[in-house]
Amino acid sequence: TKIIYVEHNGTQHEIDVKVGLSVMEGAVKNSVPGIDADCGGACACATCHVYVDDAWVEKTGKPDELEASMLEFAENVEPTSRLSCQIKVTDALEGLTVKMPASQH
Ligand code: FES
Repeated sequence: TKIIYVEHNGTQHEIDVKVGLSVMEGAVKNSVPGIDADCGGACACATCHVYVDDAWVEKTGKPDELEASMLEFAENVEPTSRLSCQIKVTDALEGLTVKMPASQH
């Protein structure tokens, strides 16, 4: 599944991520900068914060309670903010675009 990661400076990375991995894992495995993922995907660090492109918000859905409470520790949270370790890659997300916040680089 093609995921497009956009760095805060506008640099785009088009990565083919296997279905079943998280959006965070897709970035880390392919050395995309801007997603630190200090906790390794346990929804406990908020350093995998991304902004989901407006066109995709419906498909990726809303954060669950645990994720929402963790997002409170992220900087510059927007309505489209998600923790990328909590977004599972599926076929339906082909072309998903996420932006990394300026605080993670
Ligand atoms: Fe730590 Fe996502 S990797 S919250």
